[in-house]
Amino acid sequence: MTRNNDLVVALSVKLCHNKGCKLIDLKGGRNMAEQQELLTVATAMLDKAYTPYSHFHVGAAAVDASGKIYGGCNIENASFGATNCAERTAIFSGIAAGETHFTALLVTGNTDGPIAPCGICRQVIAEFFDADAPIYLTNQKGAFTATTVAAILPGAFTDLN
Ligand code: THU
Repeated sequence: MTRNNDLVVALSVKLCHNKGCKLIDLKGGRNMAEQQELLTVATAMLDKAYTPYSHFHVGAAAVDASGKIYGGCNIENASFGATNCAERTAIFSGIAAGETHFTALLVTGNTDGPIAPCGICRQVIAEFFDADAPIYLTNQKGAFTATTVAAILPGAFTDLN
């Protein structure tokens, strides 16, 4: 799916407006259509989540500089520590497709407020996004918060120096 999928964008704009979702038109080439498309992909990912233990579905979508979007869901395991969060699934899907640099990430879930990425995901996000890249934390009730990589993981470990 790309940012040029007008039908998906049109449908998601309608969906988002119906939910009273707030969208922020950020500077630096970010736009509402991209945010809507990320929300649509991340929301679709909720249905793919493999969550027999927590029953807590999370969806994520990462976009690269060319506008290609990679979706991800959480994937649990009987050995709980082997669980992969939605954010990392999205990022790792992009990496498996040959992309190692992403420009924005959106996460969603059935939370009361905007969902919060776990610490491991924040560290993985810091590896593959610029520090000022937008991170959109949302839920399925219309909450939409725009933050950045640097804000969610101050003092990130980024190299061996
Ligand atoms: N989870 C995510 O996928 N992303 C988050 O940001 C928070 C937590 C998943 C992991 C696990 O499958 C379930 O939510 C409960 O922790």
